Amino acid sequence: MNKFIQARTEEIKYHESFYLESTLFEPGTWLARPVKIVLKMLDLLNNPNIRILDLGCGVGRNSIPIAQIVKNLNGMITCVDLIPTAIDLLIENSRKYNVQDQIIAEVADAEEYLITPREFDYIVACSCLEHVSSVEALKMVVNRMITGTKDNGINAILMSTEVKEIDIETQETADGLIELNLETDRTILLLENLYHGWEILYKSYLPQSMKEKKYDKEIEFKSNWITFVARRRGGIS
Ligand SMILES: C[S@@+](CC[C@H](N)C(=O)[O-])C[C@H]1O[C@@H](n2cnc3c(N)ncnc32)[C@H](O)[C@@H]1O
Repeated sequence: MNKFIQARTEEIKYHESFYLESTLFEPGTWLARPVKIVLKMLDLLNNPNIRILDLGCGVGRNSIPIAQIVKNLNGMITCVDLIPTAIDLLIENSRKYNVQDQIIAEVADAEEYLITPREFDYIVACSCLEHVSSVEALKMVVNRMITGTKDNGINAILMSTEVKEIDIETQETADGLIELNLETDRTILLLENLYHGWEILYKSYLPQSMKEKKYDKEIEFKSNWITFVARRRGGIS
């Protein structure tokens, strides 16, 4: 099995079983709360009829709170995920939190997902772009995000780089089995180049570590977590 297919198969297996075992906003899990900066950016975007895209939305950790915030603005959020189970649970969660009218849910690979030019005010890709097949694919998706953003609209990219996985029992360390395991500096540089002419609102990376059940083992997942947020200046194409 080639490395990409192996990584993709494990990612799907991990996310499917994790989503089925956990509930949205469950304390002690990574679903416990939305990512602060992802919600914070909405303060800059409180326009009526706001349109948002969440690539790799999962079960709605960010999409549901975003939908709650934009409900009064007649906002809509399009939520895209590769895994049908994630989308089924997202739809369930949207009903549970009474935001089903704000959500358009689609099963799709971010790499294949076409975005209409200037369609969205805000595009979020939170832990999604490290799951595409190559650097070229990453650039293609980011370029679609860029073209798909309205003037003064915002893109927020959060992604893991330099991923290592440590077998907790044996303490053996290996490069993370993830579709695209890029160097941190190279990724930041790539994003800076792609977003040339945009206003960079936030750019950082932080070491992160979390426990995961993967390959039928307890794994410590370690990475540098990049947060990159940029705003399209009005009038720039
Ligand atoms: C770590 S989860 C994060 C989910 C959500 N963004 C959040 O922050 O809670 C990564 C999600 O990306 C989805 N995903 C992975 N590869 C994808 C791809 N190529 N296209 C769309 N979604 C993808 C997975 O199915 C999973 O739900």
